[in-house]
Amino acid sequence: MSFTRVLTPARSRLAGAAVTAPRVISTSGRLFSTTKAAFNPQDIPNVHTPDSIQNKLSRKEVRSTSRVRDFDMEGRVFAITGGGRGLGLSMAEALIESGASVYCLDRLESPPLDFVAAREKAMNEYGGLLEYVRIDVRNSTEVNNTFAAIAGKHERLDGLVAAAGINHLQSALEHSQQALDDVMTINYNGVFNSATAAARQMFNYQNKGSILLVASMSGLIANKGMTSPVYNSSKAAVIQLARSLAMEWGRHGIRVNSLCPGHIITPMVDGVFQQNPAARATWEAENMLGRLAMPEEFRGTALFTLSDASSFMTGSTLLVDGGHTAW
Ligand SMILES: NC(=O)c1ccc[n+]([C@@H]2O[C@H](COP(=O)([O-])OP(=O)(O)OC[C@H]3O[C@@H](n4cnc5c(N)ncnc54)[C@H](O)[C@@H]3O)[C@@H](O)[C@H]2O)c1
Repeated sequence: MSFTRVLTPARSRLAGAAVTAPRVISTSGRLFSTTKAAFNPQDIPNVHTPDSIQNKLSRKEVRSTSRVRDFDMEGRVFAITGGGRGLGLSMAEALIESGASVYCLDRLESPPLDFVAAREKAMNEYGGLLEYVRIDVRNSTEVNNTFAAIAGKHERLDGLVAAAGINHLQSALEHSQQALDDVMTINYNGVFNSATAAARQMFNYQNKGSILLVASMSGLIANKGMTSPVYNSSKAAVIQLARSLAMEWGRHGIRVNSLCPGHIITPMVDGVFQQNPAARATWEAENMLGRLAMPEEFRGTALFTLSDASSFMTGSTLLVDGGHTAW
């Protein structure tokens, strides 16, 4: 059964203001335009009486605390590799604040102080679950078992941010074989392992999900002030992986996108500055905003890409770089 209600046009409620034609909306959500003839508010009975249905409805709407539900993460479960610190941890905090449970998977022996502080805040202020699990994303058995345990506990898995990664500054001719293996197996194999482990559980529990692979603008450009040919190409591989997985899993309700951040001040970038202090000025000069990013500036990106707000986005490469690559 459906009924229709008449909404009072906002402008007609202002004394002396010009009035616009009313809109009639059915409960099915379809919008019907009314006649184009000049509108007279007196034509609608009880429009201005205090107890009119219109007034009750508009008061109820004003009181609602549930706005922009597309971003609501209540009851959802996410895993973030490399979530012990830096970009991954900032994204974890945003998800927790939106009502999710978050597992940060990292190879650091124990959770860093930033993580401990974030977990305390999550528990005290949001009543959320923020857990630390030590894993190495290169170990596919360990990764699969960890994702199975998380999904098994909650009987669902709603998303993944694959943020675990390392950088290595060395020219191509001097690049050691060991460093080549390390960068590729963490930045590419590790992301592949994590994405497939997450998708396996989404299939298992038959829930839709969103996977965000953290690449870099260095996967799209050769980054001035950073000689890192293997890192750059590992990130290009991640961008391409996101498109390929999006194609494979889209019809099962699993979306996969890649994120290409510009320079963010994190422990990884601090390491670059220690090796090459001049890089900071170069990067700031290359950026349209004239500065580097803070990890917190990617909270909105996490909420958008992992929530229903981006339900039609998959196979995309999201560039968030302060304009670095736009000129
Ligand atoms: N900081 C930047 O400017 C920047 C720019 C573009 C992309 N990124 C990417 O963002 C992601 C996060 O970087 P960040 O800047 O926060 O760096 P970070 O070093 O602060 O964080 C990376 C985390 O990944 C973890 N990690 C590394 N190898 C791992 C492994 N084998 N298994 C499990 N965990 C592992 C580290 O312990 C660390 O906690 C990386 O993929 C990085 O390439 C960073």
